[in-house]
Amino acid sequence: MLLIYLAAKENIIQEGWIMRSYTLVALLCLGCGLGAASYKLFVHEWNKLILTHHWPQTFCTMESCHTEFGYWTLHGLWPDKGDMCNSSWHFNATLIEDLMPQMKKFWPDLLHSGPATSTVFWKHEWIKHGTCAVQSETLDTEHKYFSKALELYSKLDLDGTLKTHNIVPSETYYMLDDIEGVIQSFYKVKPKIQCYHPKKGEQILGQIEICFNKEYTLMDCQTSEEDTINHPNDILSFQPYANAGFIVCDRNIKVYYPPLKGKP
Ligand SMILES: *[C@@H]1O[C@H](CO)[C@@H](O)[C@H](O)[C@H]1NC(C)=O
Ligand SMILES: *[C@@H]1O[C@H](CO)[C@@H](O)[C@H](O)[C@H]1NC(C)=O
Repeated sequence: MLLIYLAAKENIIQEGWIMRSYTLVALLCLGCGLGAASYKLFVHEWNKLILTHHWPQTFCTMESCHTEFGYWTLHGLWPDKGDMCNSSWHFNATLIEDLMPQMKKFWPDLLHSGPATSTVFWKHEWIKHGTCAVQSETLDTEHKYFSKALELYSKLDLDGTLKTHNIVPSETYYMLDDIEGVIQSFYKVKPKIQCYHPKKGEQILGQIEICFNKEYTLMDCQTSEEDTINHPNDILSFQPYANAGFIVCDRNIKVYYPPLKGKP
């Protein structure tokens, strides 16, 4: 089935035979009774959930915002495949009203941090990633999705783990191995650690991803072959988040983990 799907996809890309390819696959699927399985392929069945934390001071260095969050906050919970899976499943803030105190504290919108609560960031995360996460029964409502992300974030306590192991914001630089080593020896899995590179030879710690399988067991974020490629991060696709280009930190350049700046 996978081969047929891949062959069809090739056709689509190479020749633009969109209708013909879909029809072909649909017929084959009906024929072999695998309609449900192929449907899953089309909607990008995912196998891994990526819990992404960002360091607010670095984000605000990139985006010229001001932040008072001196701990790692949530960026998102992302399935490893698919984005914007269901445009008709709208975000509704009322459905997660009970989670608001935690959302504001642990998943703040760093760009819109005025007195009025902005739901722009959460809406974006829901549309882009939540609507794909719903494939899992454990995440098949908006409330389940956001509460699971908060639960994983608090159980993991990445911020606490780093502090306990003396990885703290500092004017003294770190090597990537120091930071990665602490995370890896504590959680027993490989994280993905990303930096902002303001200029050549400089990097600022920005984002840390920790990965789970569908059963919420921790797993390595990167396979060894992926390790060698510098993936541009999942870049938020609307302005001004779109500038937020984090790239996997370079092992050979010292890492700046910036302390929280006071009010300007
Ligand atoms: C998309 O979302 C709508 C609204 O929640 C829902 O009724 C529909 O079943 C969803 N479609 C898929 C393919 O999940
Ligand atoms: C949002 O959810 C609430 C609670 O279920 C419901 O009453 C309201 O109509 C929904 N709003 C929209 C725009 O769908």
